[in-house]
Amino acid sequence: MDYDVAEETVKQILFKSDAADVLQNVVDYLYKYFDKYSWVGIYFVEGKYLVLGPWNGEQATEHTKIPVGKGICGSAAQSGKTEVVADVSKDDRYLACFVSTRSEIVVPIKKNGVVVGEIDVDSDVSDAFDKSDVVFLEKITDMLGKHIC
Ligand code: SME
Repeated sequence: MDYDVAEETVKQILFKSDAADVLQNVVDYLYKYFDKYSWVGIYFVEGKYLVLGPWNGEQATEHTKIPVGKGICGSAAQSGKTEVVADVSKDDRYLACFVSTRSEIVVPIKKNGVVVGEIDVDSDVSDAFDKSDVVFLEKITDMLGKHIC
């Protein structure tokens, strides 16, 4: 999947879907068109926790509520910075969801500079996420933070 084409498609989804469906549609699109994205979910900040919203993948995760500061997800929420973990088995913060996961990226969604949520992508491929994924997903979270969340 070409990242520029995907960015355009996500824009279409953002501005043409019914409000209630937008986030699920974005998650569904990312999961379906990027083979290496094995699980895609959006968490929302609710007080001191991250609460799972729309997701798509083969299995549900047990981590539907994560304290801010815990796991890769909680770290990204706390710092407001994108986390890329090339090998989850080597990161002590990692909260395991699926035995097949090898790498993970978490990108905060910010509204007026404040973290309101994040996109979490797990991959069954080691070291699956590079600069292109960071740039692409940060564009998506930027759009979500400005227009949707
Ligand atoms: N691995 C995450 C938990 C969420 S699951 O990947 C869906 C973490 O370490 O925070």
